[in-house]
Amino acid sequence: MNDQGADSTDLQIYVSVLENLEDAVIALDPDGRIVLFNSAAENSTGISRRQSLGRKVIDLFRTQETLLHLVQTALREGRSIFNYEDILLHRPGAAPLPISVSVSPIFTPAGTHEGVVVIMRDISRVRELEDAVRRADRLSMIGTMAAGLAHEIKNPLGGIKGAAQLLGREFSEPDDALNEYTDIMIREVERVNAIIEELMDLASPRPPVMTEVNLSRILGDIILFQKEAQRKKNIDFILRLDPSIPPIRGDENLLTRLFLNLIMNGCEAIENSGRVDIVTKVASEIHLNQPGDRPVPFIVIEIRDNGKGIARESLEQIFTPFFTTKNRGSGLGLAICQKIVTDHRGFLKVKSSPGKGTCFTISLPFYR
Ligand SMILES: Nc1ncnc2c1ncn2[C@@H]1O[C@H](COP(=O)(O)OP(=O)(O)OP(=O)(O)O)[C@@H](O)[C@H]1O
Ligand SMILES: [Mg+2]
Repeated sequence: MNDQGADSTDLQIYVSVLENLEDAVIALDPDGRIVLFNSAAENSTGISRRQSLGRKVIDLFRTQETLLHLVQTALREGRSIFNYEDILLHRPGAAPLPISVSVSPIFTPAGTHEGVVVIMRDISRVRELEDAVRRADRLSMIGTMAAGLAHEIKNPLGGIKGAAQLLGREFSEPDDALNEYTDIMIREVERVNAIIEELMDLASPRPPVMTEVNLSRILGDIILFQKEAQRKKNIDFILRLDPSIPPIRGDENLLTRLFLNLIMNGCEAIENSGRVDIVTKVASEIHLNQPGDRPVPFIVIEIRDNGKGIARESLEQIFTPFFTTKNRGSGLGLAICQKIVTDHRGFLKVKSSPGKGTCFTISLPFYR
């Protein structure tokens, strides 16, 4: 650019840079009227350029108090505000979007104040990762407490079971009606024991044993087994595997348990007939950065069902140990899944629409 301003080639470059940015860019004149609204701004706000150009920002974003406050401060005082994060952008017909906002004054080469530029960045992905980390922290605390307690319960349970067995032997006739009571005692003690063992697993410090794991084979085996186990229902299992995914590093037993728990939950959410879809793919958009290393890509495994879905108010609780809506559920399945995914340094996400179905997404770093 020379002193006279931009020539047409410069302008074309500016336009294409602005139009290809993933951040929303909105420029305002000193009166707060919108003079520039790039494509990302249209996408993230749900407002078109035609609706926005020439209008006052205060009219267009009437309900966004914090955003307006930032813009007005920058317009009035001519100072910049960087990465203000606590804003939810409300959008017509879509879920609110968590964004970070930066506002900077625009000056002409002569130094006169010409308005401000607002840059909005979608931080929903960051928020999701933060939620996953919080969940994992909470889980490890509950797990440690529960395992301590479980240890105390296991010994007396052993005593109860032994006594019930001795009592059973006291009844001389094998078909004595009282035998039924001792059988129930033994069976229920075993059930409690199984739950306790799961709990202790949840808190156990045992690190995963990493070997080369063939995801396609594990998933294929689980489906084969589930087709048999779920014979009474009419469930279509659909497996779509990305053939380009080579064996990954992971703990085969733990990963099998993870997929099995999620697939079983999917089947249990289906009343009579439905489908469970399992998809694997490489996520090109997310990477794990390790200091001094090349970024590690993630592989994504989606397990989707068209069952009854999860009520909005339950979504936060489903990962909490013992939360269950099933008669004979332990409520430990998802807590264990969360731990397995965290132990593999991955992330577990859930999306659900009541009445339509549920999708669990597992992202695992893909070490070569
Ligand atoms: N795919 C799904 N569809 C609908 N609800 C689900 C799904 N997955 C989990 N849930 C809900 O989350 C709750 C907790 O799941 P979790 O796997 O932890 O325990 P559970 O399935 O109840 O018991 P367990 O896994 O021990 O049999 C379930 O009771 C159910 O309400
Ligand atoms: Mg379960």
